[in-house]
Amino acid sequence: MNNNDPLKLFYQEKQERINAQGQDAPLKAAADEFTRLSLKSGYSYNFSWLGRPVIQYPQDMAAMQEIIWQVKPRLIVETGVAHGGSAIFHASMLELIGGPGKVLAIDIDVRAHNRPLIEGHPMSRRLELLEGDSTGPAAASRARALAAEAAGPVMAVLDSCHSHGHVLEELELYSPLVTPGSYLVVFDGLVEQFPEESVAAGRPWGAGDNPLTATREFLKTHPEFEADRDIENKLLITAAPEGWLKRKGGSSNGV
Ligand SMILES: C[S@@+](CC[C@H](N)C(=O)[O-])C[C@H]1O[C@@H](n2cnc3c(N)ncnc32)[C@H](O)[C@@H]1O
Repeated sequence: MNNNDPLKLFYQEKQERINAQGQDAPLKAAADEFTRLSLKSGYSYNFSWLGRPVIQYPQDMAAMQEIIWQVKPRLIVETGVAHGGSAIFHASMLELIGGPGKVLAIDIDVRAHNRPLIEGHPMSRRLELLEGDSTGPAAASRARALAAEAAGPVMAVLDSCHSHGHVLEELELYSPLVTPGSYLVVFDGLVEQFPEESVAAGRPWGAGDNPLTATREFLKTHPEFEADRDIENKLLITAAPEGWLKRKGGSSNGV
């Protein structure tokens, strides 16, 4: 590729824009204000994916799509299912990219009104639903067995109980399964920045006790992972600040 290669230029400009956004204080402040107000309004509950309600910011779903295309996982382990929107989203991405990929979706309480709609969904053929504590032995051993069977890239997405202790346990349990070049995504670290707006009554997490504090502690002893700051600098609005953890090594095969 020479210096005038249009694709090379396109990607160079994109990287420069992402770097600039990361330094753009007024733009970041505007994004933070949107995040704060949208947490208050419950904005992330407004969406669905292929008919199942998903509790996510659409920006994060765009980023998940990008990394799933890039990594082409054979297995995505996901904790926190709720209505199944994110599990069906991940399953549908695996369907689109082709290959044998599947999702192991773990939730301590798969509600009776959600189960038949998840299990009856066309994308459920790529989905295994496991009811149980994501830090319990049954979930961890099933994830290990499927990762061994997958014999290929493995990704993990943590979005269950958001207390520091629970997320740290999940990180320790599921990080060894994540393959080099793949991602371990930790959702809802924004509780640290916006505790008042994001903490619902009765929830055990809050400032100083949340997925972001767990991630920071985890990274101190896990140099094999690093936060991919390009992702949050491109999104600006994300429920996973510092939570797009990439396992070092491996190769990237797409954008
Ligand atoms: C934020 S919701 C998940 C949202 C979902 N990922 C989505 O994007 O639509 C959190 C879910 O975590 C589950 N959960 C809470 N504690 C858990 C635990 N210890 N183990 C597994 N799941 C848990 C809850 O039952 C709830 O359904």
